Parts: sequence; structure tokens; C-alpha cells
Amino acid sequence: MKLLLIGFGVVGQGLAEILQSKAAQLKQAQGLSATIVGVITGSKGSLFHADGLDIAELLAAAEIGSLDAYPERTGLRRGLSASEMIAAGDSDALVEMSPTNLQTAQPALAICHQALDAGLHLVLANKGPVALDYANLRAKALSKGLQLRYEATVMAGTPTMQLAEEALAGCEIRSARGILNGTTNYMLTRMEAGLTYAEALAQAQALGYAETDPSGDVEGWDAAGKVLILANALFGSSLTMADLDVSGITQISAADMAAAKSAGQRYKLIAGASPSGGSVKALRLPLSDPLANVAGAANAITLETDLLGAVTLIGAGAGQLETGSAILSDLLAIQRGAGRI
Ligand SMILES: NC(=O)c1ccc[n+]([C@@H]2O[C@H](COP(=O)([O-])OP(=O)(O)OC[C@H]3O[C@@H](n4cnc5c(N)ncnc54)[C@H](OP(=O)(O)O)[C@@H]3O)[C@@H](O)[C@H]2O)c1
Repeated sequence: MKLLLIGFGVVGQGLAEILQSKAAQLKQAQGLSATIVGVITGSKGSLFHADGLDIAELLAAAEIGSLDAYPERTGLRRGLSASEMIAAGDSDALVEMSPTNLQTAQPALAICHQALDAGLHLVLANKGPVALDYANLRAKALSKGLQLRYEATVMAGTPTMQLAEEALAGCEIRSARGILNGTTNYMLTRMEAGLTYAEALAQAQALGYAETDPSGDVEGWDAAGKVLILANALFGSSLTMADLDVSGITQISAADMAAAKSAGQRYKLIAGASPSGGSVKALRLPLSDPLANVAGAANAITLETDLLGAVTLIGAGAGQLETGSAILSDLLAIQRGAGRI
């Protein structure tokens, strides 16, 4: 399977490392032979070779800080745009791992449509296109017999979408309710241990969980993007951000935390989706709720089903190999020809 990678940062390099370290195992056990033919970054150049790029040399160039450091080869093309790489042919799937834009989903969204138009399967870690244009992407993929996969967009490699869409395919899912932002869950865990909001945020930033500008996490927007993805994918909704009821954790005080504790409850930022809508809200959960016991940067989701009752999945929600693992599982699903589309 020949891959075009859009974005080669934390996740892109994680995927490349996994494809390199597991190459023999993937070929032998799964029949997957994945070759990276193109890589695009925002500011560090781009590389394309129809016969494949050398992953070790690609990672070495990324380490140096510029794809210009990749050694010269016959047939190597530098500086191509994503459109030019798609038009060049020679690839089977496009993996979108550029920064998430929840306002317009661009420039990734246009590239995703171009990829499907050109007959490429599409795998996303970038939430924007799935959150904002799922219905059109899905319809296009379906009409062309291509797969649209986005396991990484919700809970990284913890297999949320595959659980919901494949393992639970025979169930009716009535609602999804989860802790889908690790940064805020880490902060709430630390605040419960006695830190102030500002101290918990500083710790989350020091550990690399929170960005310098943490507003996307603490105001609930990152989780809201995931609510849109769940609502679109599980319930066929066509919600937009404006339809969601979104608030974050910025208003929670030490007194609120203490009051919850003395009532035998715990604050969690809960992202919920159901056929009737979606929300992101800090809620006080009883300790008997499995979501109340998810600590630190972990993520979790409870799916309410007709046949199985509540099914709760807990695991990593971010990380280099954790997110690379989600993309690998999507590539394997494409290889098997599995999945809804
Ligand atoms: N990190 C995680 O744990 C995680 C988990 C789940 C989902 N995701 C999602 O996965 C995506 C990638 O995350 P990341 O952590 O790998 O981010 P990152 O480390 O910031 O890497 C982003 C990559 O995209 C490139 N890029 C920037 N603008 C671009 C453009 N216009 N066209 C093509 N490439 C562009 C960047 O290049 P330059 O460095 O040259 O700007 C960089 O190579 C994001 O959408 C994120 O939300 C991440």
C-alpha cells in the first residue's frame, strides 16, 4: 500500500516509526506492505518518490529539522504540493496528520476531497474534516468504493470507532458519553488532589499535555470536535459547533471541588452525543460511574447499547505511538477491505 503523508510531526513520525519497526511482522502476519511515497510538512519541505522513501532517512531528516536533509536519489522530487502528489498517481491512501482547524477544516479538507476524487482511501488523525464535513466525505468515499477512516480522531489508538462501528455493529447505540480530553482530565485529577486551577494548568503545560494557549482544551472545544465526530458517525447527525452546548473547566473553583468530594462525587469534563444532540460540560459524577474513576490524562467512553447495556472503554487519548497505532489499525482495515466505508 503506497501512502501519502500530510503532516510529519509527532503523529506522522510515530506512524513512520511503527511502519519501520513492525515492517516484517505486518507483512508476515497481516499481508500489509506499506510504503511511504510522499511526505508534506507546513514549513520543513516535502518529498515524493514513486518507488518509496527510506523511512530511516526520512526520520533522520525530520530530526535535523528539514526534509531538505533527505539524501538525493534518482527519481526523488522535492517541493511538490499535496495536489501535485495526488495528481502524480502512484499512491493508494492519503493519511491526513496536519494541524486540526475546527473553524474551517482547511487546508486539509480540500486535500481530503482531492484524494477521494483521485481514488485514494483516506485516513485522518486531523479532526477538522471529520467534524465539519463528514457527510460529504462519507458520501464521496462510498460512491467511489473507497474507505474513509478516522480512528485516531477520538481517543487516539484506543479503538473507539472500531468498537462502535464494527464490534457493536449489531447493537443500537443510544448514546455516547466520554472523557475525551486528557489535558482537562489531568487538570481535574490534580485539582482534586489540592492544586489550584493555575497550578494544575502549569503542571499540564510542563508535562506537554497542554499547549501554551490551552483554550482549546480548557474551554471544551477539542472535546466538542470529538462530539461532532461521534454524532456524525454514530447517529448520522448533521450537527455543527453552534448546535452544541459547550463549556469547559475554567469556572471550577477549589470550593466546587471540595463540595463534590464531600458529596461522594467527582468533577469530570463529559462529552456527550446522542441522536438528539451533543454537549461538553463539567459534571459531578457519582464514584460508582466508571467514568468517575478515570484519572490523569487517560480517556474513556461509555456507549449505551440496546443489547449489551453500557460498554465502557478506557485508554490512551493521545501520544505519538498511541495515535500512530490508530492509523496503523485503519491501514490494516483498508488492507482487509473491512469497515463501513
Ligand atoms: N499528538 C497526538 O497525540 C494526537 C492525537 C490524536 C489526533 N491528533 C491530531 O493529529 C494531527 C497531527 O498532530 P501532531 O501532534 O502530529 O501535530 P504536530 O506535531 O504539530 O505536526 C503537524 C504536522 O503538520 C505539518 N503541517 C502544518 N501545516 C501544514 C499544512 N498546511 N500542510 C501540510 N502539513 C502541515 C507540520 O509541519 P511544520 O512542522 O513544518 O509546520 C507538521 O509536520 C493534528 O490534527 C492533531 O489534532 C494528534
